[in-house]
Amino acid sequence: MIRINENYTKLKASYLFSDISKRVAAFQQANPDKQIIRLGIGDVTEPLPPACIEAMQAATAEMASRATFRGYGPEQGYGFLREAIAQHDYAARGCRIEPDEIFVSDGAKCDSGNIQEIFATDIRLAIPDPVYPVYIDTNVMAGRTGENVDGRYQGVMYLESTPQNGYVPAVPDSPADLIYLCFPNNPTGAVATREQLKAWVDYARRSRAVILFDSAYEAYIRDPAIPHSIYEIEGAREVAIELRSMSKTAGFTGMRCAYAVVPKSVTAWDRAGKPHALHALWNRRHTTKFNGVAYPIQRSAAAIFSEAGKKQVREMTDFYLGNAALIRAAAARLGFGCIGGDNAPYIWLNTGRDSWEFFDLLLARAGVVCTPGAGFGKCGEGHVRISAFNSRENVAAALERIQKALA
Ligand code: MLT
Repeated sequence: MIRINENYTKLKASYLFSDISKRVAAFQQANPDKQIIRLGIGDVTEPLPPACIEAMQAATAEMASRATFRGYGPEQGYGFLREAIAQHDYAARGCRIEPDEIFVSDGAKCDSGNIQEIFATDIRLAIPDPVYPVYIDTNVMAGRTGENVDGRYQGVMYLESTPQNGYVPAVPDSPADLIYLCFPNNPTGAVATREQLKAWVDYARRSRAVILFDSAYEAYIRDPAIPHSIYEIEGAREVAIELRSMSKTAGFTGMRCAYAVVPKSVTAWDRAGKPHALHALWNRRHTTKFNGVAYPIQRSAAAIFSEAGKKQVREMTDFYLGNAALIRAAAARLGFGCIGGDNAPYIWLNTGRDSWEFFDLLLARAGVVCTPGAGFGKCGEGHVRISAFNSRENVAAALERIQKALA
């Protein structure tokens, strides 16, 4: 008799964003004339930077000719892209990352879900609350947690982000083995200072732990004092894996291109206490289960680092930050406390009300979709996340409708 992985039965029935889509679809069916504006899932709306389009078209033309056609590429990504990333995303910020420490992939979501596979199932997890659901759900699937009791999985150390700590959790008193951190944060939009990140790196070194640092939103940082990479912190090369993505940086959500950085100096131990380089393990996993990102997509991604590409990416992220500024201003007018939106494309609104109720209210009265904070964890209750990813026109219309709905 074939049996299931029973860890799946511990999960909530469906993934947060699928749940929201279903509710929105039901509402749309019942109200076919209502024009819904989506400020829920963080999906980009603006077209790709022209530099990326040109590079993709040129690469597609190469695929049309026998002389330049390419089949399978290196699983870890083409040298031209890994070298551009090492130079522009790291060396330019004073971080020493070698091109062969970069693994190009089809998404930070996939990387953050897959990376846990190289760790033992009985390690101690430290996971933020609220959190991007993939971090916790994939560990539940792998059997690293107990049952969900009262909204929390047993055996997990939750790192609470609350108004009291400015939505940046402090290091815990007890050790953890695998620590998930995301800055600029999804869902709160909070950023971590150099000192806060240093405390986490020191904690990981003391605990012989690994930090999984998700910096998918680093392109939105405008405050020059805020680190873009964990490797700007001394000692991080020994304890941190970093995930990045072109999705929110350059509008690549439909293109699929991201990367994981696994420095050769990051170590984990086996049961006998023998050290192993995680780079070798991840390389083994990646080459076994992944066949690389499409060549035209990688060429398009590399164009982000050209002079024209950099300028266009900056314009695009500035555009979304302009939306975020409008959302923050509207939140202030409505008397809601909020964080995010200045160095991140998400605004975390402290509504002080049941978050699903508030979600339903905005949908019913304003036809606007947000993301209920409770969907990201217990500490998300009383909050909603508003995404700045939409056209200026839609954001302005949504804010006007929300203002009317809450008047
Ligand atoms: C989000 O809305 O949190 C993101 O779009 C999800 C993702 O990047 O997978």
